[in-house]
Amino acid sequence: MAVNRRASRLLKSIPQYTRMGRHMRAVLEHGTPRKWINLALVESERKLRRIEVKGRPYILFLDPCNFCNLRCPLCPTGMEDLGRKQTMMSFDCFKRYLDPHLPYLFEVNVHNWGESLLNPDVFRMIAYAQLNNVGTNMSSNLVIAQEHHLDGLLDAGLEHLTVSLDGTDQASYEKYRVRGKFDRVIENLSSLIRKRNARGLKTPFVEWQYIVMKHNEDNVDEAERLAVSLGVDRIRFIPVGLPFESRNRRILADEWFPTKFEGRDKGADTPQTFGQADRPAPCYYLYRSMVVNADGGVSPCCIVYKDRRDFDHMEAHETIDIPGIWNNEKYRSARALYTDKDWDGRKKTICDGCDIFQRHPSKLPKSARQPKPAVSAVDNVTTGVAGSVKGPTTVLNVSHRPSPERQAP
Ligand SMILES: C[S@@+](CC[C@H](N)C(=O)[O-])C[C@H]1O[C@@H](n2cnc3c(N)ncnc32)[C@H](O)[C@@H]1O
Ligand code: SF4
Ligand code: SF4
Repeated sequence: MAVNRRASRLLKSIPQYTRMGRHMRAVLEHGTPRKWINLALVESERKLRRIEVKGRPYILFLDPCNFCNLRCPLCPTGMEDLGRKQTMMSFDCFKRYLDPHLPYLFEVNVHNWGESLLNPDVFRMIAYAQLNNVGTNMSSNLVIAQEHHLDGLLDAGLEHLTVSLDGTDQASYEKYRVRGKFDRVIENLSSLIRKRNARGLKTPFVEWQYIVMKHNEDNVDEAERLAVSLGVDRIRFIPVGLPFESRNRRILADEWFPTKFEGRDKGADTPQTFGQADRPAPCYYLYRSMVVNADGGVSPCCIVYKDRRDFDHMEAHETIDIPGIWNNEKYRSARALYTDKDWDGRKKTICDGCDIFQRHPSKLPKSARQPKPAVSAVDNVTTGVAGSVKGPTTVLNVSHRPSPERQAP
């Protein structure tokens, strides 16, 4: 539709929309009346703090692979602390898990806790989703990519590529991206953009994602210059997050948090709320997005990683019943945290200890809206990470002014 395309172009031209713009484009470009009605239902059920919902998730994470070639020190996969079987998802599983979602889905993220390009089936997965009118996003370190990977992404019709590149030279890059090769990433980035443009393709939209940390915060201006010369569609600066279950947050914060940037408080007790702090509504993961890991485990969100925190498992169901999973005891228990209704069946889940619920009175049931003293993040092992890339993020303000937290699932 011409009007949709115009709206998409407009959104693309407003840089601060960043991730929200991407979601809006997916809603417009992959929408159908059924999907839009479901979207309205999901959002109203969230506003109404419904425990049992009729709406279906409209964003999906399907992780093709949770192995990785890099060893990023704050990533559970990189630290070999994932707490989950490491495996590749087969194309058949991908299809089986995706199919029941198709009537409601605007976009699927083909990444979660690994390097998706290690799975040779990832191109088929992307093509299958696109063929079925679902937008695709992938985040990659782009280190191992060779010509056939880049061509594969273009042929498959990937819509959005996030390239994780946190530095402007080998030294500033590899302190976090351990085992990474800066020159390889730059070469791959520019080759992908060249190939895409030569073919006259509009996608993938290529986003350079730069996690701002203590050791690379002085390089952001240089990164912006480099981004222009490479011709990436957007450079996005995001705050560094800590692993959800890290016990030594004070030490990690001291080591990694930037000192000159607003948007990421370097205090050890910083509540980590994924851009949801100021929203008087329940955590949006519990209404909008389902996260399916490479082993088929269903996590409540893309920030939690250990399998013992899972809410369900795809392989526990002979026929995949999305409404059944979406309203199982754990999802209902987690949603019930945000209501003032009594519900006897409530069980404890990982969400009970998450900063989103713990720290913000507006998130609590009205009857209990007394500001809680902040639980020490260091002592409370179940409190969460800051906006992981995979989840909502604060867009750091490169001009060093405070930046409001933005919502983006
Ligand atoms: C776990 S990675 C998997 C995808 C891919 N391996 C990559 O790094 O792009 C998912 C996302 O988390 C981001 N990420 C990794 N460490 C992070 C951190 N400490 N804080 C915020 N985002 C992080 C990555 O840059 C990536 O966009
Ligand atoms: S952040 Fe991505 S690149 Fe780094 S170890 Fe984790 S999965 Fe690998
Ligand atoms: S752990 Fe936190 S971010 Fe994740 S679903 Fe639960 S409340 Fe939301």
